[in-house]
Amino acid sequence: MDRVLITSAIPYINGVKHLGNLVGSQLPADLYARYRRGRGDEVLFLCATDEHGTPAELAAAKAGKPVAEYCAEMWQVQKDLSDGFRLSFDRFGRSSSPQNRALTQHFAGRLDAAGLIEERSETQIYSAVDGRFLPDRYIEGTCPNCGYDKARGDQCENCTKPLDPTDLIDPRSAISGSTELEPRETKHLYLRQSAMADRLRDWITTRADWPALTTSIALKWLDEGLRDRGITRDLDWGVPVKKGDADWPGMEGKVFYVWFDAPIEYIACAREWADATGRSEADWQRWWRTEHGADDVRYVQFMGKDNVPFHTLSFPVTIMGANSTGEDWKLVDYIKSFNYLNYQGGQFSTSQGRGVFMDQALEILPADYWRWYLLRNAPEGSDAEFTWETFQAASNRDLADVLGNFVSRVTKFCRSKFGEEVPAGGAYGPAEAAVTADLERRVRAFEAHMDAIEIRKAAAELRAIWAVGNEYLQSAAPWAAFKEDPDRAAAIIRLSLNLVRLYGILSAPFVPDAAAAMRDALGTDADWPGDIAAALERLPAGHPFAVPDNLFAKITDAEREEWAARFAGTRA
Ligand code: 2FM
Ligand code: ZN
Repeated sequence: MDRVLITSAIPYINGVKHLGNLVGSQLPADLYARYRRGRGDEVLFLCATDEHGTPAELAAAKAGKPVAEYCAEMWQVQKDLSDGFRLSFDRFGRSSSPQNRALTQHFAGRLDAAGLIEERSETQIYSAVDGRFLPDRYIEGTCPNCGYDKARGDQCENCTKPLDPTDLIDPRSAISGSTELEPRETKHLYLRQSAMADRLRDWITTRADWPALTTSIALKWLDEGLRDRGITRDLDWGVPVKKGDADWPGMEGKVFYVWFDAPIEYIACAREWADATGRSEADWQRWWRTEHGADDVRYVQFMGKDNVPFHTLSFPVTIMGANSTGEDWKLVDYIKSFNYLNYQGGQFSTSQGRGVFMDQALEILPADYWRWYLLRNAPEGSDAEFTWETFQAASNRDLADVLGNFVSRVTKFCRSKFGEEVPAGGAYGPAEAAVTADLERRVRAFEAHMDAIEIRKAAAELRAIWAVGNEYLQSAAPWAAFKEDPDRAAAIIRLSLNLVRLYGILSAPFVPDAAAAMRDALGTDADWPGDIAAALERLPAGHPFAVPDNLFAKITDAEREEWAARFAGTRA
């Protein structure tokens, strides 16, 4: 049994996420977690809300609420939606947790001991109108890299370049819109990433199995010369700057930068999980500390491409830096990153409310429809496009016509001719041998794609596996066989019911609700199929079953048109 630690990039707390966010990290991470569990691995799957920094403060101000209260409410909203999408986190934590506060301060102390933190006096942008410094997203302007005019002070959403507020052309306050901005002196801590550039390059260039998207982004920033990053801010909301438990002279009243504490929440979340479930320190450390048992853990991270620089460079500096003082934190083994999902020819956008958001999606249809469409079109090799036409087609053709139809035909035919139990009589013949051989090959190919986290390829193979059942049923034609040779029809239906069971296991990572309904109807386990011939004998003659409710409804043209019109504009 392998042990796999899986984290999804932690979504900002500021509002409900859209489907582009979902398919960019949480959903594929869940797919992989469910698959690994299905294969019998021991999995710890973690996600959380990213609650510090300017996104949270700005959103709370807009909602007219104290930021702590806003975050607590939005955490619940996001938690309910992640349950709605069947995201199977072992813990959905909060970066504002006491566990993260302690670990963030701990890492800062270790990095300081490693000589990787430098105090710098610098000029930051002060807004007289707002009466405060304007870090990160408190400031907007034109990106010096690509010219996008709504770039924010931490990163350009358009070209992904990490920015400092002072980089922006024509800067303005995101709070008041004021352009009366003045540079002022303030003191901050800098993480000396540049000192680790060679080590990072050695590490990244030896990750031959990583997706090109991940390594190319990381190497691009290294090639441009890795800049040291300010890791503190003049804000009230955040983790107070401390060196472990001790005060940090000169840093009173400051907090750590959100991108410093956010990835540390991956670790803190394991600790939250252990605390919340009555586990011990050792129980979470065996996932995170190599000398405490994590040396045999495979750690896989999921994220959108804009997050890659922070996960390939900044966070590894935190881990490697702490480890250079004798600690033993686990470094990531594999980083799966994604391009963007676009919406009907433009971008999904939280700030502009454009696209379909997680709450709206679940108001229209249950999770399985969205999961299937988003995953089969995952933006792996390039950006992908959400359109209502392709959504309708994928749901109707794959889910309703292929999978749902097969399950319904087989179970209903059996009920009407043989009753609600697996029929006895007849033996598997050449047609069944051919199906078995075909599936043996296909299931192994499906596993290979899932092992490699090649999501589109895995989805295509799964669909082909479903189609094998339909084609078999069509050509074996049990309804015709039944008239002359009921035993032959019984054998066909026995194999077909076993196929339903097989689909109920293989499909679970993609469409967990439908898969559970299929297994429940058959009253069967979820043991991953080894040898396919054996798997197709697993339900013996006489095994009782029930006809499940229709698994998938077809999306009508009228529904499609209504939804396309409803989501054509922006969200209020
Ligand atoms: O881009 C985002 O949504 C960030 N909140 C992701 C943070 S991932 C991590 F490092 F914790
Ligand atoms: Zn840009």
